[in-house]
Amino acid sequence: MLRIVLTIVLLVAGFTIIVDGCKSPKEEGTPVKSKSVADDFGKIDALPLEYKSPKDNPSTPEKIELGRLLFYDPILSGGKDVACATCHHPEFGYAESLELSIGVNGKGLGERRAFNRHNNIPFTKRNAQSLLNVAFNGIDNDGNYIPEEAPMFWDLRAKGLEEQATFPVKTLEEMRGHSFKEDSIANEVAKRVDKIPEYKQLFKKNFPECETVTIAYITKALAAFERSLVANNSRFDKYMRGEKNALSARELDGMKEFIKAGCARCHSGPMLSDFKLHVLGVQENEKNLLPDSGYNNTHAFRTPTLRNLRVTRPYMHSGKIQTLDNVMLFYEDLRGKPPPNKSVTWDNLDSLAKMVKVEFKNIDAIVEFMNTLNDDNYDRKIPDKVPSGLPVGGMIK
Ligand code: HEC
Ligand code: HEC
Repeated sequence: MLRIVLTIVLLVAGFTIIVDGCKSPKEEGTPVKSKSVADDFGKIDALPLEYKSPKDNPSTPEKIELGRLLFYDPILSGGKDVACATCHHPEFGYAESLELSIGVNGKGLGERRAFNRHNNIPFTKRNAQSLLNVAFNGIDNDGNYIPEEAPMFWDLRAKGLEEQATFPVKTLEEMRGHSFKEDSIANEVAKRVDKIPEYKQLFKKNFPECETVTIAYITKALAAFERSLVANNSRFDKYMRGEKNALSARELDGMKEFIKAGCARCHSGPMLSDFKLHVLGVQENEKNLLPDSGYNNTHAFRTPTLRNLRVTRPYMHSGKIQTLDNVMLFYEDLRGKPPPNKSVTWDNLDSLAKMVKVEFKNIDAIVEFMNTLNDDNYDRKIPDKVPSGLPVGGMIK
């Protein structure tokens, strides 16, 4: 009943919204034709039940488990002190609770993580993204996506999980450290992995043609593990798939206000992201030595997913906003006021950002709606030990 009411309200107001994610796009009600950008409020939808992999890297349960071992093994870092899991930990939705992460030369996990004494390593430039549902990066409003071309990073500088996974290994402050050069570290870590009999055997089993472990095999296994980190059964997904009682009247009200405020013009599709670049003028992180000017010095950053925000704060590329209420106040302030980032004027802002209209009285309802996008039932399994014998997850104890 509620669902019907919502549909009617939205249609009457000229919004397009897919209400039943089970049907193929063709069966769904024809979207209302938009007259102009301003009339198109965007659509949101459930995630698919299954994910796709690249043709040359199909997923199997065994490959996922090999990827898991590598993900938690600091053998992939120059100083054998940092693992992928150091900054993408299940406790934080495979993201990070620090504004900016500490990789090389650090100790501890989450809020307790700090640099060791005598430090000459910077923080990471940006807030670590969640890896939950990263298999679906790039998915459009009709559910189409190409795993090989999946957009990665806040500035879209990598394509696909396989390619992305070499970046942290090569980056000074994330995993490389000062002891190795950018062009030699990948070979170095592959050689180390190749020397460990347990890994050697697992690689041979998963990639029968693999005589010597190379970084390409390592990133394939890592990518298969990352793809498996799916959390696609939030109450929002259930509702969209037809479970009418999955959302309360107030949450549905929040969904309506979310769309009316213009949020879904960018936070659209099943990931609540268009995966495009937009200038919002979010404040800088003062810990950065140089200002972060985003994609091609345009101050544009990619729209993040709004899924699982309960466990992935702090928010924004700079990690400078701590709560969803404060994100809402940021959007409310965008109306007319200069943005908090000193390098961005109101004129520079993305036109869709200028169109956002948040009313103070609707903030709570919109936040309640965003909370329906959490799915706490995701894979949190941490291996007891890793084949290198190094501390699981790096120096996080
Ligand atoms: C020192 C912390 C740190 C470590 C270690 C680290 N990452 Fe990241 N990761 C980040 C940060 C910060 C970003 C965002 C960087 C950006 O967008 O410029 C990121 C982004 C990503 C993304 C992009 C997600 C998206 O939606 O675009 C993926 C995938 C990823 N990391 C996987 C990995 C893998 C695999 C490893 C290990 C090989 C790893 N990370 C190690 C901090 C880290
Ligand atoms: C013009 C496109 C656009 C519109 C419209 C928009 N957003 Fe965003 N949103 C973004 C981008 C881009 C970012 C990241 C900005 C950055 O870090 O510099 C973001 C960040 C966020 C975040 C932080 C998520 C995280 O993981 O860091 C939340 C929450 C959010 N938006 C909610 C909303 C809500 C609610 C609305 C409507 C009131 C809205 N957005 C409207 C593009 C948009």
